[in-house]
Parts: sequence; C-alpha cells; structure tokens
Amino acid sequence: MDRVYNFSAGPSMLPLPVLEKAASELINYGDTGMSVMEMSHRSPAYENIIYEAQKKLRELMDIPENYKVLFLQGGASTQFAAVPYNLLVGSGKADYVITGQFAKKAYTEAKKYGDIKLTASSEDRNNTYIPRLTRADFREDADYVHICFNNTIYGTKYNYIPDTGNIPLVADMSSCILSEPIDVTRFGLIYAGAQKNMAPAGLTVVIVRDDLIGRARPDTPSMFDYKIMADNDSMYNTPPCYSIYMAKLVFEWLLELGGLMAMGKINKHKAGILYNYIDDSNYYIAPAEKEYRSMMNVTFITGNDELDKKFAKEAGASCFENIKGHRSVGGMRASIYNAMPVEGIEKLIKFMSEFQKKNPK
Ligand SMILES: Cc1ncc(COP(=O)(O)O)c(C=O)c1O
Repeated sequence: MDRVYNFSAGPSMLPLPVLEKAASELINYGDTGMSVMEMSHRSPAYENIIYEAQKKLRELMDIPENYKVLFLQGGASTQFAAVPYNLLVGSGKADYVITGQFAKKAYTEAKKYGDIKLTASSEDRNNTYIPRLTRADFREDADYVHICFNNTIYGTKYNYIPDTGNIPLVADMSSCILSEPIDVTRFGLIYAGAQKNMAPAGLTVVIVRDDLIGRARPDTPSMFDYKIMADNDSMYNTPPCYSIYMAKLVFEWLLELGGLMAMGKINKHKAGILYNYIDDSNYYIAPAEKEYRSMMNVTFITGNDELDKKFAKEAGASCFENIKGHRSVGGMRASIYNAMPVEGIEKLIKFMSEFQKKNPK
C-alpha cells in the first residue's frame, strides 16, 4: 500500500525525508554498530545526539541563553501537574484560561495544588473563539498565568500573546510548536508533547526561564522537578532516547527548509487554501471563528451528522486517514501539521469537492 495522507491530530505524520534517514540509520547508527534504540544514553554517541537536538531546537526557536530546554517524559498531560509543582510557589495562586478540553484538564489538575482562578473561558460558544485578555484580567500576585495556545480539538489558536505584565505566562503549545516563529521571551514556560510537530510520542519538551526553576514545592517528585532535570541535562534517568533522536532529525529537516519563518509561510499557505475552499464551498462550514482559526487543526462540518459520518468513512477509504473530528465534537478535523505536504491538502480539497457533488444537502 502507498503511504496515505494522515490527518491525525497526533501522533501524526513525520516528514518523509526524516523517516528515510531514520530507516537508513536504523540498524547501524554512524560507526557505532548498533541502533540508537540499543544505545546507552551515557555513551558519547548518544550524548552527542541529545546535545545536538537541544542545540538545533534553540537555533530554530531562537531560545535565549536564560532559558533551559528540557527533554522529559509523561506527555503534555504530566505538565498539567509539573507546572504547579514547580511554579505555584509564591502566593500559591495561578490564573487559567479555558479554551478547550486540554486547557480544562490543565486547570482541573492545577486545582489540586493551590488557589486556581478560572480567569476566562470560551465554553459559552463551544470553544469556537479565544477570549481577548488584558493585564487587568489577571491577579497581580498570581504565580503564573496558564493558556493553551492552540486548541487541537476545536481548531482555534491565540492570534495574540496575552500581556500578563510581570506574571510569567505558561503556554501549552503541543499542537502548534514549530509551526511558525514565536517570541519565546514573552513566555515564562512553554511545554509541548512531541507527537504532533516534533517526533514520535514519548518526548515532552519544556522550555523554561531560569528564574522559574529551583523553587519547586518540597514534595515535588524528582521526575517533575525542572531543576533536577536541568542539572542533569535531561538525563536524570533514562530519557526517551529514540524520540529525542527523531526530534533531532525533524529539527535538522526544518533548519534545512529555512527555519520557522519558511515553515510558517508554508503552513499559512496550506491552511489558507483549505479554509478558502471551505468558505467558498457553500457546503462545508468551519465552526471556529475566523480570526482565531488554527493553522494546524482545521475543523469543519457539513451541518448534517449523517453526511459527516459518510465523509469520514469515504475519506478513510480514499487514502485520507483520521479525518473524523474528535469524538466529543464530531464533524471533521484535518490536522495539517508541518509534515503534511501541500499536495495532501490539494487532494483533500478535490475529494471534498467530489463528495459535495455526489451528496447534495
Ligand atoms: C493541546 C494539547 N495539550 C495536551 C495534550 C495531551 O498531550 P499528551 O497526550 O502528550 O499528554 C494534547 C494531546 O493531543 C494536546 O493537543
């Protein structure tokens, strides 16, 4: 079978040249005579891989010296707890914004650890927009503000970075990291599960400003403690070795492409042609409000549940995999992360147009 166009929200497509490079090195990496999967994480060959992965991510995202880059495990969901363990250590207050299910999970988890305020929510309109927030919305003595920058399930994204003044801004960027340039200095902490735009599942990247580490609650499990992880170069224990190696290959692929500026332009084009088609179709509807549309997760419906089901089924049979919307919202969702080629979207549009002709409403 040929490779399909995989529109999965994550784990998702990896760039073909990356998979090919990994395949060529699978059994014998460099001159080591072994696979990266079999290698001690303390070996010079592996130390070089993790060092290069960090260096390349720093270069790609222009991460300043005063930020640590950590390669952790447990998925983004573990950060829902790790963030309060490490950062909820001043007033014990933090402000959360709910714009989707993952933001809500982060809020619910944090509530176990302190005085957590629900500052704003977009649940009133089924998370189809992002609240406009100003500095006045946040408690002055909050230890941090938490947002989810791109909402994978609803297909929305912040089109601005909230001004939190001196309060550190923490962002879950699982589904938009590396999709375009972002000013890291506006954030105290960024975290992301790797399985969408970086690597296979198993790796979680945390980018955290120096002054926010080293003050974790005394009962913080060592594995959650950013300081311990930073002091040990993310190798306090065995790291997710192969995922980090794959991430390094993805970072190299992105750098070769021209970095995040170039990637951002491509993503804008890809999302643009799909949204334009939907808007002009007189058939498909994109529920997310226009100004908050995600470039990575394009949600759409026909307005008829039966047709939506038929669409997802027929798309699956025609090499467009995993296009069914999240089970909680229904409809369709085309996750078009960095590795989705433009032709995947062009072919999807052709399929959508044929489906429309065959299935009048
Ligand atoms: C925005 C966002 N945050 C958090 C998660 C949870 O990530 P993980 O499965 O790595 O815990 C996801 C997963 O899809 C996500 O999209």
